[in-house]
Amino acid sequence: MKLILMGPPGAGKGTQGEILEKKLGVSTISTGLMLRTAIKEQTEVGKLAEQYINDGKLVPDDVMVEIVKQRLAQPDCANGFILDGFPRTTAQAKALDDAGVEIDKVLLLEVEDEKIVERLSSRRECSKCGAPYNIVSKRPAVEGICDSCGGELIQRKDDVPETIQNRLNVYHEQTEPIKSYYAEKGILAVAKGEEELKDTTANVAAALGLGE
Ligand code: AP5
Ligand code: MG
Repeated sequence: MKLILMGPPGAGKGTQGEILEKKLGVSTISTGLMLRTAIKEQTEVGKLAEQYINDGKLVPDDVMVEIVKQRLAQPDCANGFILDGFPRTTAQAKALDDAGVEIDKVLLLEVEDEKIVERLSSRRECSKCGAPYNIVSKRPAVEGICDSCGGELIQRKDDVPETIQNRLNVYHEQTEPIKSYYAEKGILAVAKGEEELKDTTANVAAALGLGE
């Protein structure tokens, strides 16, 4: 399965990606997580991306396309993958096509803007493995500690109200148009992501025709 997860910031792409990765037995590639790791390690890409991310803007297409092409060339992607957060512009979607990458399904998680600010303000992320948590809806077993790797849970720098609003604007202006790009190809599936986590997970399974 070659799957794209799309949706506004905080829609639950990372959360559903983690669940689907186990169900489908393929790797999830989160471009946001790759960039945050690059920032932590202060690589060339990290230095370039830092200000864009902190402002809630998109990192330039040419940089992102190169990163994703290199990642998809790794052996673990040979039989499938889940892309979380890429493509985010029509140019990025076209670049995937030009590279000969054949996507099976694009899953759009739909959540209203009002809900998103609330969710992202209570999100926490593992500083080591990037797993998403929420102090309201997805609490770790031990407060402040990642269930899977024991890393410290932190708040992302771009999860402050002003930056969340910028990210939402960018989503509506630059990413949402891709919906019709994939709908025209007949591979767009839509799932409501507003309900509680278990309901969203069931909606996603139904939209993809998977068992729960
Ligand atoms: P990225 O890391 O992709 O951020 P995003 O798209 O804004 O999405 P998030 O990670 O914030 O949300 P999510 O949908 O993963 O939700 P989550 O599962 O965590 O990108 C960050 C930045 O990197 C971008 O702004 C840009 O600058 C740059 N970038 C990345 N890719 C790029 C690209 N291709 N081109 C250019 N720039 C790029 O869930 C959110 C919270 O809600 C969690 O706390 C979770 O526990 C909770 N939650 C999830 N589902 C539910 C539910 N159903 N009910 C209740 N709570 C829920
Ligand atoms: Mg995410």
